[in-house]
Amino acid sequence: MRPLTAQPSEALTGSARIPGDKSISHRALMIGALAVGETTIRGLLEGEDVLRTAEAMTALGAEIVREADGTWRVWGRGLGGLTAPEQVLDLGNSGTGVRLLLGILAGHPVTATLTGDASLRARPMARVIAPLGEMGARFVARDGGRLPLTVTGAARPSPLRYRLPVASAQVKSAILLAGLNAPGRTTVIEPAPTRDHSELMLRHFGAEVTVEETEDGRAIAVTGQPELTGRPIEVPADPSSAAFATVAALILPGSELRLPGVGVNPHRAGLYQTLQEMGAALSFENRREQGGEPVADLVARAGPLEGVEVPAARAPSMIDEYPVLAVAAACARGRTVMNGLGELRVKESDRLAAVARGLVACGVEVEEGEDSLVVHGRGGPGGGRPPGGASIETGLDHRIAMSFLVLGLAAERPVTIDDGTPIETSFPGFAKLMTALGAKIEAGAP
Ligand code: S3P
Repeated sequence: MRPLTAQPSEALTGSARIPGDKSISHRALMIGALAVGETTIRGLLEGEDVLRTAEAMTALGAEIVREADGTWRVWGRGLGGLTAPEQVLDLGNSGTGVRLLLGILAGHPVTATLTGDASLRARPMARVIAPLGEMGARFVARDGGRLPLTVTGAARPSPLRYRLPVASAQVKSAILLAGLNAPGRTTVIEPAPTRDHSELMLRHFGAEVTVEETEDGRAIAVTGQPELTGRPIEVPADPSSAAFATVAALILPGSELRLPGVGVNPHRAGLYQTLQEMGAALSFENRREQGGEPVADLVARAGPLEGVEVPAARAPSMIDEYPVLAVAAACARGRTVMNGLGELRVKESDRLAAVARGLVACGVEVEEGEDSLVVHGRGGPGGGRPPGGASIETGLDHRIAMSFLVLGLAAERPVTIDDGTPIETSFPGFAKLMTALGAKIEAGAP
């Protein structure tokens, strides 16, 4: 356990390069390992989660090296070419790592055992086991469909048409990845649009992926047994990581920050839309495309925020950003109402409970529902700040850790998190980067 303390801070100013997108980094390594030839990846997120994926793909037979300049090279095995690992694959803290990998393994005639840390071992895997089982993979899992589990994939998985019971990009991606080895078309129908990085990247590598709006929802289909060819990839800065610096800049008076090359894929942009509705001065400059993904330079200036009601339909496009939105809401004037948050209960921790508990400990009034959260903002004409002065349990959850450090910067008294190590999963160097911009984040408890 490595506690970190955020002290009330002055304005944040300057420019900072946010680490690479976690979702895209996992997919680049995985799809690169399935392709023929060389994939070069620039800007890969070198966080724990992604490094576990690199190790797993290496254990399955891909060759992966990091050059001294930070470029990663992957030499894939070709579709169906992965080999059985000699060891248990430990995906650490990463739900994306384990669920996407299960999709890949479901389409290979190999047996592998997967596990993870205490957080990941508590998370539901039945959501991928059920559809992948229909495609022909076999699973032996711990009670309740939890890790550790063993999968034996199918040499020739059956194509599937599957309607997702929950809006989950991980489940969608797992099925599409298994469908790569199936003869014919595998179709996933989403109840609400979720991040489409797998679809964009599969196309980038040469697969045929179609998207159709149907009465039932969006139908995404992949045609099996494509020729996947190694490609260059440039990973945008992660909008989910940029969210912490952005919210900190908005709530610390006098701040102005520039974050270059941030991913602005519309399926990831829900937080930014919500912050703009709250009155935030955010602009997206120099919009461009990078390896099939839209990016822009994000500029954030501090200013007063107003509470809003966030529509439930927006949840998939900002699912990882509710903790930090709740921090912005705590500093805003008036109530912020968030609905459709059921999935937050099965993330790296029960994020809905963790956010509500943490805000209350920091003196902020909240109403926690089964799948909703209301935050009563402390901001307003008196310039009220959240009282802070609390110690927060992060429960192996990087986003809870970073969100409450951001709150501490804008609070009346310091906020301590019990353990900063989980931050390494998604945002290595977070405290250093924030400190360089002017934040007071220190090791230890006061
Ligand atoms: C992710 C999808 C989301 C998100 C996670 C990354 C992905 O999870 O919360 O951090 O890369 O596909 P769900 O698919 O469970 O919604």
